[in-house]
Amino acid sequence: MNAVGIARPRIEGRGKVTGAARYAADVPIRGLLFGSIVLSTVTRGRIRGIDVSAVQDMPGVVGVIDHTSAPRLNPKAQGVFGPDGQLLLLQDAAVPFAGWPVALVVAETLEQAQAAAAALPVTYDEDPHDTAFTADHPAGRPAVAFFDEPVDIGDVEAELAASAVVVEQRYRTPEEHCSAMEPHSATAWWEGECLEAIDSNQGPFTVAAVLATLFSLRPDQVRVRTEHVGGGFGSKGLCGPQLILAALGARRFGRPVRVTLTRAQVFLATAMRPAIDQLVRLGADADGRLRAIWHESAFEISRLAEYLEGCTELTKTLYAAPAIRTKLTAVPLDILPPFSMRGPGTAPGSFALESAMDELATRLDLDPLELRLRNEPEVGPASGLPFSSRNLVACLTEGARRFGWDQRDHQPRSRREDALLIGTGLAAASFSAGAFPSSAFITAEPDDTFTVAIGATDLGTGARTALTAIAADALAVGTERIHLEISDSALGPAWGAGGSRGTTSWAWAIAEAAAKLREQDYRGTAAVDTSRSLGDLPTHERHAFSAIFAEVSANPATGEVRVRRLLGMFAIGQVVNPLTARSQVVGGMIGGLSMALHEEGLRDPVSGRHVNADFAGYHIAAHADVPDIEADFVPDFEPGIPMGIKGAGEIGNVSTAAAIANAVWHATGVRHRSLPIRLDRVL
Ligand code: MOS
Repeated sequence: MNAVGIARPRIEGRGKVTGAARYAADVPIRGLLFGSIVLSTVTRGRIRGIDVSAVQDMPGVVGVIDHTSAPRLNPKAQGVFGPDGQLLLLQDAAVPFAGWPVALVVAETLEQAQAAAAALPVTYDEDPHDTAFTADHPAGRPAVAFFDEPVDIGDVEAELAASAVVVEQRYRTPEEHCSAMEPHSATAWWEGECLEAIDSNQGPFTVAAVLATLFSLRPDQVRVRTEHVGGGFGSKGLCGPQLILAALGARRFGRPVRVTLTRAQVFLATAMRPAIDQLVRLGADADGRLRAIWHESAFEISRLAEYLEGCTELTKTLYAAPAIRTKLTAVPLDILPPFSMRGPGTAPGSFALESAMDELATRLDLDPLELRLRNEPEVGPASGLPFSSRNLVACLTEGARRFGWDQRDHQPRSRREDALLIGTGLAAASFSAGAFPSSAFITAEPDDTFTVAIGATDLGTGARTALTAIAADALAVGTERIHLEISDSALGPAWGAGGSRGTTSWAWAIAEAAAKLREQDYRGTAAVDTSRSLGDLPTHERHAFSAIFAEVSANPATGEVRVRRLLGMFAIGQVVNPLTARSQVVGGMIGGLSMALHEEGLRDPVSGRHVNADFAGYHIAAHADVPDIEADFVPDFEPGIPMGIKGAGEIGNVSTAAAIANAVWHATGVRHRSLPIRLDRVL
């Protein structure tokens, strides 16, 4: 390979820093109207009335659509994971959560639309609501397992009873918000019976397919393009309200309509991580060998749609034990439907498991690094399948060497610098690897270049640059001969940028298409669809691994915790682009830092509403919160996926919060089992 593995700056980097790169809200469209969404201010109930006449004559207002006037959507429309009531906007008077869109005001300018939306009188008949999540809530029931199925291996009770040491603790994490830098924006218009849109999302093909079912159109009647995307973190994996409402508005008023969410609307009406309550029981022999791992997780969902927060996935991967039991409970409430966010399941799951492992090490009087090394499994602890490649030990030992872990006095509160308490902590992580079906087309052009077309999306991670290198190597030509076309549902079925499976899925399709074109002697067009060639993946456990090391200071007078050092060693298969892959895992680690110390969506239990739906009240780690971060890769290769790739998208997030929480315990002697570790809770 010549291009894969080489550090290269982003192809579109110059366009982005000069402002030439267009995001969804930047694209000029002739005859454009602007829509402003009105969100419900009550948590549950029915709309009594919307007085459209009060705003109809305001400057620039073209019209208002609500549940009485909106075009009808297909009530049987399917979301990404099946029936999804969140898609059926403006179809009836019911209000299922605070932040539910109740009207779209359309005007000639954005400011006119916003002014009229703010003035629109909406009255409600309120019903009692329930937004108070607890693990033992009576509505709790087994979660629908799309993946992360519950396991019960061995005799967990007997192994716990026979253990020399048992740790049993609960861990809690709050609602957290994806908070991509670019707010969700869509522009939609109709060409006869065909719907066109430019949207900010993580996968234009999937989004277009959902949109087609909503508007009862054939898939080829809907085209969605994404262009540049300013982050998603899970929140742009769905067909979002901005797009559905823009399409409804365009249908109703016969002109292109652009809907861009405000920051508050991103908080209130797009995806969030659910509040989660986890119970971990670990039993071990006196020498630190695990006998039992029991991990139960309860999380809130909405009554509108299923969702699975797979907190126990890495519990079935990281450590060997003769008995493992996992269970996931979903609690339906009157809340915004939760969805994937930054290491979904594994980020909160690792906080629980890796905190409990740290507590176990303390009880055993054992180095937390040594505890992990002693429980390294030979095969998948729950599945019994071999690992395709597993380099967790290399991450742990190389990370420990670089971090200076052997200098650590394992007693808590043993290190001070002036008034500050200093501590270090570590945590291990895994994130599953795999690929989903995608199609790709490669055309040999007369000028000796190659057009590589695939419905991928670049969220800002560097996907364009990575796929160019992958295509060049697959065709055995230089990157200068590759012309990449992405970001368009018309390019055919493709997995989105999510689940750490974008690059692997697209690389698979590009590699197959390139092989076919080479068989054609580099002539004509090669078209492939990988939906039949992914069958060998379930023969092995396939995961990326990492080890995170953190050093913190805690001020005993103020409770302020600062992260002073953060180091991550990663095994992510073949690294496609060391420059952008490092940025991805560093970004993930910053997300984990933010989760550990700052991020907390707060809900008023009386009104049921978010009270900090903005960046003034919801703090995300800023530059001043982030220390120098070291991140590097150990040699790794995934034999089952073309070019040996695993995935870099989420693994940086996983276990960073646990490493920081473990470091805070080491600094202060106080164990934090609820995130974030706010300064009022530190000591
Ligand atoms: Mo990722 S949170 O699966 O977009």
